[in-house]
Parts: sequence; structure tokens; C-alpha cells
Amino acid sequence: MKVLVIGPGGREHAIVRSLLADPSVTEVHAAPGNAGIAQAVPTYPVDASDPAAVTALATSLGADLVVVGPEAPLAAGVADAVRAAGIPVFGPSREAAQLEASKAFAKQVMAEAGVPTAMARVAANAEEAADALDAFGAPYVVKDDGLAAGKGVVVTSDRDAALAHAQACFDAGGSVVIEEFLDGPEVSLFVLSDGHTVVPLAPAQDFKRIFDDDEGPNTGGMGAYSPLEWAPEGLVAEVVDRVARPTIEAMAQRGTPFVGVLYCGLALTSRGTRVIEFNARFGDPETQAVLARLRTPLGGLLHAAATGRLETVEGLRWAPEAAVAVVLASQNYPDKPRTGGRIRGLKKAGALDGVHVLHAGTALDEEGKTVSSGGRVLAVVALGEDLTHARERAYEGVELITLEGGQYRHDIAAKAARGEINVPGVTNSAGTGAER
Ligand code: AMP
Ligand code: GLY
Repeated sequence: MKVLVIGPGGREHAIVRSLLADPSVTEVHAAPGNAGIAQAVPTYPVDASDPAAVTALATSLGADLVVVGPEAPLAAGVADAVRAAGIPVFGPSREAAQLEASKAFAKQVMAEAGVPTAMARVAANAEEAADALDAFGAPYVVKDDGLAAGKGVVVTSDRDAALAHAQACFDAGGSVVIEEFLDGPEVSLFVLSDGHTVVPLAPAQDFKRIFDDDEGPNTGGMGAYSPLEWAPEGLVAEVVDRVARPTIEAMAQRGTPFVGVLYCGLALTSRGTRVIEFNARFGDPETQAVLARLRTPLGGLLHAAATGRLETVEGLRWAPEAAVAVVLASQNYPDKPRTGGRIRGLKKAGALDGVHVLHAGTALDEEGKTVSSGGRVLAVVALGEDLTHARERAYEGVELITLEGGQYRHDIAAKAARGEINVPGVTNSAGTGAER
């Protein structure tokens, strides 16, 4: 099987790495990729969000499967174009990808499907925004309705700041969704779907804020780990039954079946599990941690989803180890990241036992040296017998890598490793298991 992976980031590097480990995959190609992906497979300078260009590349390569990584190509209809050319594609249609591209649409589908989520109101002007803020009270949650790479959300107790974010979205011609605040730890669960059958992966936790202790602005994600030993027994089954399956069924009923990965962003609140958001793609950097543990060959799995055969897939196999991914970001990320800095120490870090480095915003300069080219530059991923061990290895790797002004969080998976994560209303969650 020949596979073409679309996208430029760390998630795509993780997917490429897992595909290369699948014996049924004979060739992997990527577009546009990054410096790390280009070391592993042939890459092509194609605009990932150009449906015709991606389809032409897939056709000329004779690809048996196209995997679309990021949200922008999905929202631009890349999966539709590839599918129309008769090539199996892992990634939802433009319409199905609205589950991520429009938060208002996602709320509507959740309401139809009876999926538990935060109460929300759509506001199109300052007056409506102020009313909604006062209806829910502090802390305030204000979300840009459109795609904003995880940066369109402001959570604050400052009413003026909440109003200012709403106004900025209105000024840009958009609307906002204002929600009740959800307490409790967050979980990312990826559920594969062929349009009807659903197969959950192992849950992960992401670290959205730029600084330690969840300080500072939201980012695309600064690190992740999996599995979640603190998660309540039966969490995955609950999310499949109450969230993923009803959503996939609602999308099929609407005539817009969802093929790809439904990313369920959840909060485990004192009032039960609630959906914070849906994404129509794998999470970044959660994928880097989750795929590090997946032992079931990825190519076969994604091909089964793309061709309506997920029913035939047997139970997934997982490595017993814990995985931790720590992101190294550019100076000034997420504001105006400084790029073009030389990155050193990649080989040394990747040579550590149980450690691999996945590139995100990297490129080669004129001398062929690896330099930063984006906000999130790379992730160091480590497997270890437990979270403590995996963290040690991941940070050992991060410390071997140098990038001027580079920043990373020091507390990825730290609370979980210390057993300090509590789900409100749940007294204990002892035990282990790859399902959690
Ligand atoms: P989203 O883009 O919807 O995933 O939001 C980004 C981040 O903002 C989430 O991962 C949460 O940390 C936070 N967030 C979003 N919605 C809420 C909410 N209703 N209550 C509390 N935090 C939220
Ligand atoms: N890590 C969060 C996301 O992929 O949206």
C-alpha cells in the first residue's frame, strides 16, 4: 500500500513514522512535510489546502490511501476532491469537517445527538455578547466561531477582556460562542470512524497554555501524555456510547457521514463528562504521544476507516509503556514566533533509549542545516515504564536540543506522574489499563 500524508506538522511526522512501521505499507510520501519528514520519505512542495493540487499528486503517485492531517485542508474540501478521484482518503468531507470548522454547527449536532456539552449562546454583536456573559457569569468563556488553531478561545474572569475578545472577532467579521465554564481535568479522545463504525484510541491529555502551571495564553498544544491512569474506569466506553457514536450517527443521518478521526475534547466535570469541542482530525501534540504506544499497524487501520471496513478491525494493541511528548516552541510563540534559528542536538536527543524527535516547524537553510520555521518547532517523545520514567527521558532529550530563544514547558505530565489529578466528584481512580 502506498500512502500520501498531507500536512506540515508534528502530527504528520508522527503519522509518517507509524506508517513506515506498518509492514503492509510499501511507500510513504508527504506534502508539504517538514525537514524531519523529508529525512524519512519523499516530500512535495504542494499547497496542502489546494484540492486540485493534492488530488493531482495523489493520482500521479498512484496512492492507495491519502491521510489528511490538519483542519484547513479538510475545511477547504481536499478530502472531497481526492475521494471524487476514486482514491480512499482518511479525513472527512468539507461538510463533515464543519464539526470543527464551525463551533455553532458542532453545538447544533451535539444538541441533535443528545451529546453532553457546555451550555452556550451564539453572539453576533457586543450587546448579545454582554447578555450572554452575564447569563453564565465568571469565569467567562468566549470562542471565535471559526477556525483559529486553538487560539480563538479566551477563558478569563475579567469581563472587559472577555468583551474585548468578542469585539475583536466581530471586527474580523465573525461571531462568537459564549459558554458556561467547565471545571475538571481535560481529556482528548480520538475516535476513528468509517462513517458508521467507531474505534477509539487511547486517551491523552494536552497542555494548551504556553507556560508552566497553565499560565499564559492558549497555544496549539505544548505537550501531551498517554495513557491516563487517573481517568475513571469506563471513560472510553462512556465517551463512545454517549458522544462519539451518537455524533457519527447524526452525521450519517444528515447525509454527511464523517470518515476520519473525531477528536473529542472533553472536560471531566463535577456534573459528568462534557464535550468542550470537536475536531475533525488528530490532535497535535497528542498524536505524537498516542501513536508512540499504538502497536496495531496504523496503515491498515486508516485504510479500513477510509474504505468503510472498520467493523473488520480487531481490538487495538498498545505498548504497556507510558508516552510523554514535550514540545519545543520558538521564542515569542504563540504571539509572533521568531523563526530561522539554528536547531542543534537533534541526533543526540533521538539516540537516547526510548526517545524519538518529531519535527513540526522545521526547514533546511541554504547550507542544509535544520532551522526553525514555525511556532511549534518539534516534539521530543519518550516511552518509559511509567510516566515518571517517560518524563525523565523526554526532558533529557529536550535538554540536549538547543534553539536560541526556544521555550518549552517543564511540567508536562508532572501532576499525573505525582498522582495529583482529581476528577471532581470521583473519589478514587486506582488501577491501570491502556483503555484509559
Ligand atoms: P477549544 O478551542 O474549544 O478547544 O478551547 C481551547 C481551550 O479553552 C480548551 O482546551 C480549554 O482549556 C478551554 N476551554 C474551552 N471551553 C471551555 C469551557 N467551556 N470551560 C472551561 N474551559 C474551556
Ligand atoms: N492539541 C490540540 C489540538 O490539536 O487541537
